[in-house]
Amino acid sequence: MGCERLKNRVAIITGAGSGIGEASAVAFADEGARVVAVDVRDAGAAVVDRIRGAGGEALFVAADVSRADDVRRLVAATLERYGRIDVLFNNAAITLVKYVDQTTEDEWDRIMAVNVKSIYLTCHEVVPIMRRQGGGVILNTGSITGLTGQVGTPAYAASKGAVVNLTRALAVDHAHEGIRVNCICPGVTDTPLLQQHFRSLPNPEAARREREARNPIGRLIRPEEVAAAAVFLASDESSAMTGAALLVDGGILASPEYGSLKL
Ligand SMILES: NC(=O)c1ccc[n+]([C@@H]2O[C@H](COP(=O)([O-])OP(=O)(O)OC[C@H]3O[C@@H](n4cnc5c(N)ncnc54)[C@H](O)[C@@H]3O)[C@@H](O)[C@H]2O)c1
Repeated sequence: MGCERLKNRVAIITGAGSGIGEASAVAFADEGARVVAVDVRDAGAAVVDRIRGAGGEALFVAADVSRADDVRRLVAATLERYGRIDVLFNNAAITLVKYVDQTTEDEWDRIMAVNVKSIYLTCHEVVPIMRRQGGGVILNTGSITGLTGQVGTPAYAASKGAVVNLTRALAVDHAHEGIRVNCICPGVTDTPLLQQHFRSLPNPEAARREREARNPIGRLIRPEEVAAAAVFLASDESSAMTGAALLVDGGILASPEYGSLKL
């Protein structure tokens, strides 16, 4: 067990079957949280088995977070099992590597539904619950691509820009109710989503090496390093933070010229 910074907190984590969501589910449970691991794929069940195997408490709920009926079922299942919701971590997302003129309307709508509308749907259900409880924490996973553009991903970049500003808007609306809302903006993080992104490019290996070299820390970020920031934002250690976009990016946004200019 960790330091139990989230002892007995009930935390919904979406996209918990893989990558940053999986690492966060494990880290939250290690800090004493009761984790509701949500994923559209059964991979979330294996993560729950892992947590229970280590003596933690977790529940798997299969749900597509872009669907209102799934989200209502997820919230009902959480309340039925644990009776409250302390943390809502909206982390699930999908990506698409296509120029705007190659992007179909259905693809555009799907990216927006999974990456942005899902946050509306979960918050619509969970904010009234947190209000009744006297507070709570909402975390959203944005991206460095919510703060800058990125080549070949207009739909994804638009969705992540929306996540960052939705975070600020929710923070302002609900601060007086004791609900803190922050987002994490990861940089290039070694997960299946990133590998899928690389596979969409003409030379995946070269793309990976180029990203490593452009990161001032000289490597990709590990999902566990993003999860550590999520634990901090979910815990009382960040009690004065709301509306923030916390970069966990290996320094990649610190300098636009990094890697191309050396003294
Ligand atoms: N990996 C990176 O480099 C990177 C960088 C910046 C931001 N992010 C963001 O981090 C978050 C996690 O990404 P990751 O890299 O861990 O990805 P991942 O693909 O490894 O994990 C995402 C999980 O979300 C699930 N998911 C997808 N659609 C869903 C839906 N409709 N309902 C429920 N679950 C769904 C997937 O099944 C998967 O298990 C995303 O918001 C992503 O945009 C990732």
